[in-house]
Amino acid sequence: MKDTEGISTRPIKIQDNTLRDGHQSIYATRMKTEDMIPIAEEMDGCGFWAMEVWGGATFDTMHRFLGEDPWSRPRILKKYVKKTPFTMLLRGQNLVGYRHYADDVVRAFVDKSCEIGIDIFRCFDALNDFRNIETCVERIKANGKHVEGTVCYSLTESRLGGEIYTLDFYVQKAKELEQMGADTICIKDMAGLLSPYDAFDLFSALKKAVSVPLHLHTHYTSGMGSMTYLKAIEAGVDIIDTCLAPYALRTSMPAIEPIVAALQGSERDAGIDLYRLLEISKHLEQIAPKYGHLLANQKLSIIDGGVLAHQIPGGMISNLVSQLKEMKALHRMGEIHKEIVQIRKEMGYPPLVTPSSQIIGSQAVLNVLFGRYVRISNQLKDLVLGLYGKTAVPIDKELTAKILKNYKRGQEPITVRPADLLPPEMEEARKTIGHLARTDEDLLGWILFPQTMEKYLQGKYHDGATQSAS
Ligand code: CO
Repeated sequence: MKDTEGISTRPIKIQDNTLRDGHQSIYATRMKTEDMIPIAEEMDGCGFWAMEVWGGATFDTMHRFLGEDPWSRPRILKKYVKKTPFTMLLRGQNLVGYRHYADDVVRAFVDKSCEIGIDIFRCFDALNDFRNIETCVERIKANGKHVEGTVCYSLTESRLGGEIYTLDFYVQKAKELEQMGADTICIKDMAGLLSPYDAFDLFSALKKAVSVPLHLHTHYTSGMGSMTYLKAIEAGVDIIDTCLAPYALRTSMPAIEPIVAALQGSERDAGIDLYRLLEISKHLEQIAPKYGHLLANQKLSIIDGGVLAHQIPGGMISNLVSQLKEMKALHRMGEIHKEIVQIRKEMGYPPLVTPSSQIIGSQAVLNVLFGRYVRISNQLKDLVLGLYGKTAVPIDKELTAKILKNYKRGQEPITVRPADLLPPEMEEARKTIGHLARTDEDLLGWILFPQTMEKYLQGKYHDGATQSAS
């Protein structure tokens, strides 16, 4: 990276997340590839460490809502972005879908992702059980690509410390990832919980403990994001994630422009041309009206103060509000807040991220409305059974027995890696879908999203019309 002032000794590296997490966080992942093309070349010239362009919810929304082939985006963008590596977010054994897939599916998915142009894979598991990213890591390495091992940042109180999520917890997790062969290590703070001074302590400690570059991903949700980056930068973090202003703040990432400006002339100067960023933002402002209706604008505040008080992410609350409205039980929200905290404790303190946030949120509603663990969701039973992996602390034996009583999938928690119980899926799926899947890309898409991909493929091949929006 070039330094504009000539005094930078160790420039902060910046990953741009505008084209994935940015619009996923505030525009419901609805940005079309055609709107990315006009800025792609300009973005390539910015000097970003990487651009996140795929993974997370993009695969789902592209085929479900945008009529785009979910594999097409990195391929198309690669024509315009020739220097900057592409990153994707990969939920370990969940890939970009909603359940654990068998190892043969995971391997084929990673191979394909490499083929379409993904260079860096940010791999994480919702429970921080790294057995769930083993297969991905192996396969990414086999393809000669970059593994970004990731720890989900979680807390049990408002600051780092307490019973589980201590400084030492994160240091141990980072060491584990380094041993697994991670090329970089990312702390993924999806709810914006990491406070500035904790970030300073955390990255100071991580810097001493591991030798691979460190990456911080935070969201602006609580309003602390930019301060947190600044303190992490002072502590020596190597890479941070930002978005261009029109796609930043709110529940998205901190904006890049003020960070670049704040560091100008310092020893961590990013060396990124602010004027170029402003030009790209201008284009985004022009297309923004198209997506403006997707912004959550029920409140004047663009931050969620609640997350500072109870650590429950904003997205989880808004899901609960709509669930409770349907059940005419919105007035019981206060009780549900308390119940979420209690269930999370009883379930071994999982981080609140997809899918654990949904599992715990829905069970909290059931517990408040019908009595504690009178009605139990199958997802919660699966969690207790260990099918999502190991929780940060073991679940109480009595409660385990109560929840798994008469459960058809098992009554004794498993101890093996969850995917060890899954038989191969590819050949069976190929037989089932038959000629509707003409390529392995179609087949993989269908395994991940059977209903909506089937519809998409029917449109693509049988209606004779081309579905691609670009
Ligand atoms: Co994120």
